[in-house]
Amino acid sequence: MTVTDESSVGAFLVPAATALPSNRAYLAHLAASTSNPDLIRLASNENTEPPSPRVREALERAFTDANLSPPPTSPLQVALAERHGVDTAQVLVTAGSTEVIDAVFRTFLRAGSEVVLPDPSWPVFRRRLEALEAHIVDIPLSRSEDGFRYDAPLMLAEITSETRLVVICTPNNPTGNAMELADIRRIADTGVPLLLDAAYADFDPARDPMHLAHEYDNLIITRTFSKAYCLAGVRVGYAVGNAALLDYVDRFLVPGSSVSGPSLHAGLAAFEDEGYHQLQVERITRERERLLPVLRGLGLRAYASGGNFLPVDCSEPPAASAFAASVLAHNVVIRPLHSLVRISIGRREENDALVAAIARVIEAEGAP
Ligand SMILES: Cc1ncc(COP(=O)(O)O)c(C=O)c1O
Repeated sequence: MTVTDESSVGAFLVPAATALPSNRAYLAHLAASTSNPDLIRLASNENTEPPSPRVREALERAFTDANLSPPPTSPLQVALAERHGVDTAQVLVTAGSTEVIDAVFRTFLRAGSEVVLPDPSWPVFRRRLEALEAHIVDIPLSRSEDGFRYDAPLMLAEITSETRLVVICTPNNPTGNAMELADIRRIADTGVPLLLDAAYADFDPARDPMHLAHEYDNLIITRTFSKAYCLAGVRVGYAVGNAALLDYVDRFLVPGSSVSGPSLHAGLAAFEDEGYHQLQVERITRERERLLPVLRGLGLRAYASGGNFLPVDCSEPPAASAFAASVLAHNVVIRPLHSLVRISIGRREENDALVAAIARVIEAEGAP
């Protein structure tokens, strides 16, 4: 028998291998975007502008030490620690924040371990947790005319002596709402390890939780270079937290093989160009605020958002998929997630093309 034989390989697989949906299906929107460069990509919460020109210089310079292994403590790690006012050991730089989020899961959870997870949230959390066969305690977000809210009292009620980890994405993808800092504190006060995914905190600075890293030892806060720093393809993210805790998390990463040298150079160049970063944050925030009333004016239930995207309520999952498919027919890719479509904020002209596409769809089919 060989393990390439379809019928025999099943006996060797962990149960999650067959239960998990494929990454290919999950990333179908990205495949659609890359197969046709003429499509307007508003489905992946990337930045549709190129990175700082300093990144180009850094990548050219990266050629000169591409033959050497990256240093265990990178200049990017040192710069991040300085900016956040923490020790270098309190920062872990990884290949996108997804990598460190996954390592955090594996540090605290194994099959059957309880993890408290708001719903809906970023689908990757659930996929990675299901891969571990963790026991997910779902906390539904509350919902009103204005959109979604975190239900902190419900979360607190569900945190028990069995809870091994709490996950909060703030602002949340795909719903756009952030958790109030006072509520984060109440949850952190339970002493249970708390993963705060702050991938979109650049776009909601008033509720950026980063300073809480100075107050709590049970907090791990993750950030990414994929949004405001325009580096989704370069794969750089990081975590800030207690040094001892992060040392444990680090043990679940492959030693020295995570982030490439060129990525570290690119990340540092982007990070040091604060002017460019700020311009991106302002541009995206301005466009987000311009687009929200325009979408509402077209008859869509679009919700305010603290991220680089806007959620639009479609009542039910099939309506969201059908609406995204109709918009795609007009060359704009947006993402159906749960009962929402999530629209990433692009450049002004891309957003205008989106509005024109949606207007045509609504004219032909009505609003979802
Ligand atoms: C909530 C959330 N966390 C993390 C990430 C991943 O970012 P990275 O590209 O750094 O892995 C994303 C990207 O879409 C996200 O939406």
